[in-house]
Amino acid sequence: MIPAVMPTYDRKDVAFERGEGSWLHATDGRRFLDFTSGIAVNNLGHCHPYLVKALQEQAAKLWHTSNLYRIAHGERLAQRLVENSFADTMFFTNSGAEAIEGGIKLVRKYQYVNGRPQRYKIICFEQAFHGRTGAALAATGNEKYLQGFGPKAPGFVHVPLNNTNVVRDAIDDETAAILVEPVQGEGGVRSGTGEFLRALRQICDEFGLLLFFDEIQCGFGRTGRLWAHEWFDVKPDVMAVAKGIGNGFPVGAFLATEKAAAGMVFGTHGSTYGGNPLAMAAANAVLDVMLAPGFLEGVRERAAWFHPRLEALVAKYPRVLAEMRGTGFITGLRCVVPSADLVNALFERQMLTVGAGDNVVRIYPSLVAPLADLEQGLAIIDDACKALTARLATATAAGAGNG
Ligand SMILES: Cc1ncc(COP(=O)(O)O)c(C=O)c1O
Repeated sequence: MIPAVMPTYDRKDVAFERGEGSWLHATDGRRFLDFTSGIAVNNLGHCHPYLVKALQEQAAKLWHTSNLYRIAHGERLAQRLVENSFADTMFFTNSGAEAIEGGIKLVRKYQYVNGRPQRYKIICFEQAFHGRTGAALAATGNEKYLQGFGPKAPGFVHVPLNNTNVVRDAIDDETAAILVEPVQGEGGVRSGTGEFLRALRQICDEFGLLLFFDEIQCGFGRTGRLWAHEWFDVKPDVMAVAKGIGNGFPVGAFLATEKAAAGMVFGTHGSTYGGNPLAMAAANAVLDVMLAPGFLEGVRERAAWFHPRLEALVAKYPRVLAEMRGTGFITGLRCVVPSADLVNALFERQMLTVGAGDNVVRIYPSLVAPLADLEQGLAIIDDACKALTARLATATAAGAGNG
């Protein structure tokens, strides 16, 4: 019999009732170290007291009015994001996929209002992930996710990451934009190189295309800077954000320069909930914490402490781990064993992580995890890798015996 919750996820048999910082308390009494952070969402940990207070205060005042009226918190948040990014304007959504969809509409409309209505194609990258709705799914381009859902939305071309020649070859008279995650999350914590991302900027300028960054997973402090692209000294025309912006309250946004947003006039886009007072209270509070002097420096410092220790584990367990990847706290361990084996071994030791493409296990502590939590996480990874190595040794010995 089909469960009441549609079975589209292979959920672990655990439910959580309470969270605090890096820790989640399960209904069965177990306590887990959370190095998934809701898949790069709880960047400020669970139940950050400042965020709890902001949301509680807003919940007691006003939840929702619709976008038919001005929303003061939203105007304030938009202004602050404009001041702290390349953008001049933005639209609030409820999720990442909606932010991508909005950005796709925006780049096409830009070409349309500039007298190039034939330009609708978007160049995307292999192993990208942009969400599960119609156009976002087509931008993701993964056949596994597309199968059985009818014709793929037209206009998305996929090329390998970090190869400028193939990008140039993919451009034709119908190309409108290039969409890229500066650091791919689901794809396996794979980063675009600075050289490549800057070359994309040049190509866009040369061909009259818009450069559209998806920072849904890598943005909002995850890399140790507010925006991942700050590491690469390159600016997009459009950017989608979500996840960390609300720390668990569902909110997203697509941001754009004034020039890129030229076609997004009255009536071109809308959302019932997008940017409602609750979401805006959560997101303003997140920004208060992230923009506080020293916050992002602190993230970078702890990440700089963490990375060599992860590297040391890669060196210590060559039969289990192949490589450490990442910037700040968007980190991944590429495995030699199936990545699910490591995720499961960590889960047995009450630590939460999530797999990704390229046989990678994502290691996403919260950005506020103290060194003690990071140390504990490293000890658990060490123990899990030790057990997996021992299991491999036993299997090899058994195999040798059989031979
Ligand atoms: C880079 C990226 N883009 C888009 C999405 C889709 O976001 P959402 O699940 O909020 O629709 C995700 C979600 O994992 C993502 O990582």
